[in-house]
Amino acid sequence: MKKKYLHITTFGCQMNVHDSEQMAVLLADCGYEQTEDSAKADCLLINTCSIRDKAEQKAFSELGRLMKLKKKNPDLIVGFAGCLAQHLGARIHSRVKNVDLVFGTHNIHRLPEMMEAVQKERKTVTEVGFSSSLHSLGIYAPPRNGAIGAYVSIMQGCDNYCAYCVVPYLRGPEKSRTPEDIVGEIKKLARSGIREVTLLGQNVNSYGKKSGRGADFVSLLGKINAIEGIERIRFTTSHPKDLSDELIGCFGSLRKLCRHIHLPAQSGANRILKRMKRGYTAEEYLEKTERLRRVCPEISITSDIIVGFPGETGKDYQETIDMMEKIRFDSIFSFKYSERKGTAAEALTEKVPETEKRQRLKELQILQDRHTQEKNSALEGSVQEVLVEGPSRNSGRELTGRTSSWKIVNFEGHPELIGRMVPVRISRGYLHSLRGKQITP
Ligand code: SAH
Ligand code: SF4
Ligand code: F3S
Repeated sequence: MKKKYLHITTFGCQMNVHDSEQMAVLLADCGYEQTEDSAKADCLLINTCSIRDKAEQKAFSELGRLMKLKKKNPDLIVGFAGCLAQHLGARIHSRVKNVDLVFGTHNIHRLPEMMEAVQKERKTVTEVGFSSSLHSLGIYAPPRNGAIGAYVSIMQGCDNYCAYCVVPYLRGPEKSRTPEDIVGEIKKLARSGIREVTLLGQNVNSYGKKSGRGADFVSLLGKINAIEGIERIRFTTSHPKDLSDELIGCFGSLRKLCRHIHLPAQSGANRILKRMKRGYTAEEYLEKTERLRRVCPEISITSDIIVGFPGETGKDYQETIDMMEKIRFDSIFSFKYSERKGTAAEALTEKVPETEKRQRLKELQILQDRHTQEKNSALEGSVQEVLVEGPSRNSGRELTGRTSSWKIVNFEGHPELIGRMVPVRISRGYLHSLRGKQITP
């Protein structure tokens, strides 16, 4: 039988990346081998994101590129998946002709049957219904050759409805997997050589709350901490309103829990936080970061910030800057507010002009770069445990890995160290990485 090739382009968050891994596993069972080369592929999938307008534009331009390939080769199968596919559903067909397969975030597990319908009946398949089952979440993706880390979805959806955000409409209501399923999956990953797991959910802090079975995130972490072979646990994302003292305490008590938390603040102005429906004040946020640092002084704190939310005045923006000065994040992802159809914020007037948003974003990023550089320089001379992921991209002789605090470290070392935890003395802190020297015992 002729070998078939699959090419996937992923545009979204870590959850989307994990969805793509699961798609690849399911299509491997249908005889497709993954390739990096789209020109060689028999099936081209785009896994899209809809969080901001820019993400949508990227997905459309990639789809346009792939449709040109299909014009040359009508046998090519083109699939449009992910959050934007979920949003558009069958409407995509009137915008772009001849897309073979359109499926949403709850339909990934049905990929083999959808593919069969496309291949055998040569018909267009569109599946964007929501399902209350968690079938798509539990698809086991065995680690790729040599992988050290793996994503594990612990819940799907979101019930928070922050005023700017489309995720609850595209990923459905919040639903948690059982601790047994999650622990079972992680044990299997550990047996296949995985050393680090990143637990995924839109708001992991509320894990299990709706299940009525008494499952909660802190006890889940305790169970994962006990799994042999797993050396590091990370999770993302944490909603500040649900960050409990018990969870903060885990950063002091659980050996394998990495010393890093991604805690999106979004804004430092109470007026804006309220309009965003975030459910906490700037003071409460600040207090939680202080408690985190009391429990674990070396913890790195990263965040997401949106500038130019409707009604954000110069004073509100200044309050975000003041918050950043007080907290000094290790790094942030920062965005210009992007209006999304169907969200509560769409109806808000007092839009901030694009030029103003651009100016605020630029200033804020300059400030953050200064803080990041200061944080990284402060690590010079310290010894960091680095989990070695592979050869460094820049130099063949170097290895790369991450500290517990999520910082990239490059250092010279033997390839047999890949997958191991290595003590490295940091010699230089740069803006995007650290450099160091392995300490030999
Ligand atoms: N569930 C996660 C992340 C969701 S999306 C959480 O609550 O933290 C990742 C980030 O994208 C958000 O934290 C927010 O900063 C940003 N974002 C979401 N919607 C946006 C929009 N409409 N415009 C600009 N940024 C947005
Ligand atoms: Fe979006 Fe808010 Fe849910 Fe995060 S918590 S996914 S920002 S609605
Ligand atoms: Fe984008 Fe969907 Fe993730 S909208 S950020 S891919 S949940």
